[in-house]
Amino acid sequence: MPDRSSDREQWGSRVGFILATVGSAVGLGNVWRFPTIVARSGGGAFLLLYMGIVLLIGIPLMMAELAMGRRSGRGVVGAFRSLQPGRGWWLGGIVAAAAVFFILSYYSVIAGWTLVYTSFGAAGDLQGLDVEGLEQLFAQVTGGTLLPVAGQILFIVLSSGVVYFGVTDGIERWGKILIPSIVILLLLLLGRVLFLPGAIDGVMWFLRPDFGRLSLGVALEAMGQVFFSFSLGMGAVLTYGSYLSRDDDISRNSFVITLADVAIAVLAGLVVISALHAFDIDPEVGFGLVFVALPAVFNTLAFSPFWNAVFFVSLAFAAMTSLISFLEVLNAIFMEEFGWSRRRVVPMVGTAIILVGLPSALAQGALAQVILFDRDIMDAVDALTSSVILPLSGLITVLYVGWVWGAGAAAREIAGDRVDSPFIHVWIFIVRYVAPAALVYIFLAGIAT
Ligand code: PHE
Repeated sequence: MPDRSSDREQWGSRVGFILATVGSAVGLGNVWRFPTIVARSGGGAFLLLYMGIVLLIGIPLMMAELAMGRRSGRGVVGAFRSLQPGRGWWLGGIVAAAAVFFILSYYSVIAGWTLVYTSFGAAGDLQGLDVEGLEQLFAQVTGGTLLPVAGQILFIVLSSGVVYFGVTDGIERWGKILIPSIVILLLLLLGRVLFLPGAIDGVMWFLRPDFGRLSLGVALEAMGQVFFSFSLGMGAVLTYGSYLSRDDDISRNSFVITLADVAIAVLAGLVVISALHAFDIDPEVGFGLVFVALPAVFNTLAFSPFWNAVFFVSLAFAAMTSLISFLEVLNAIFMEEFGWSRRRVVPMVGTAIILVGLPSALAQGALAQVILFDRDIMDAVDALTSSVILPLSGLITVLYVGWVWGAGAAAREIAGDRVDSPFIHVWIFIVRYVAPAALVYIFLAGIAT
């Protein structure tokens, strides 16, 4: 039995833990990726499918990671090693850490863009630009050197500044501030956007199911999105779980966190889709969606600098709370494995991320000629991590919980003496059979494309 060290940091309150973990979950994935996927995969029908996958795989896996974290009281490498010592399973932690490293490298670049655009928005620099002008600006910003690199460095310095202060004074405190702010800002935007002529049609479209567009590929995409959006398979939820106290209820918290994440994704989806519907813009435009199409919509409103700034600030906040959780996965590993202090680890990890992020930051500028697997560096790293490394690391985690550490032991950590409830039996079945099968499938499909 691993001994949970008594001097480990702990969350100050249940609400603090929930908001911090919701912060990890709510990110670029909610505001940019989710609306894009919903738009091209059948509106309401996709939503139903997505909810099904959330219940069937998302929530059970979140419970599994929280249980691993709390039981071991360690970061992702230490958790794999200590729950079932003596075998090579700690390598599972290394795969998760590698996923974090890679994802951080480009996530921080996009996060940097949100800072650049927040300042553009507030300064009124976006005002008066039409879609073409905005496209040019976007190409200029992302293809430049100074702005993407400066944005990325600033973003990492700010996020490192938060984690530097530790679990309660840093991560928890900022989660409590940033998550409610995101919700308020998005509600404000929704309130404005809904008054645009045609916006309600967008809402109806968003909610009305079009079952004809569902396919296996769409289901696959939905699973990938659940994984990405819930921050699963990277040790982020596990690490946050390691700061949980014994009396917190893992299953109840998992439901609250995942539902909050879905709710915020739907809220962002409503803002984005109804705004685009009002202006007849095709939502399938990827990053251009948030950096080009939406500013174009906001530019038609009175006080457009205000609306642009509100939108990009909420995007920056969302990216920041996620980035904080990425950083903490790595910090926890270095602090435990080498016994280093947080003060020493935070600047080190931050610097390392800036260095690995530089190629992504320059992917559309100075390094645009470098093509890997038919993609620029940033897209290649994104594809490699989200369709190969992440499902692999998720698969290792469920196999470990279901079969190595053991679903029974995990269930006891989750439910205490209520392990005989039907809910826990279903959970065990999912973790041992359903989730591994789904992940093998996602992984193979990821390699094949
Ligand atoms: N969940 C975050 C998002 O939706 C991304 C993320 C993944 C954050 C994994 C932490 C760990 O953008």
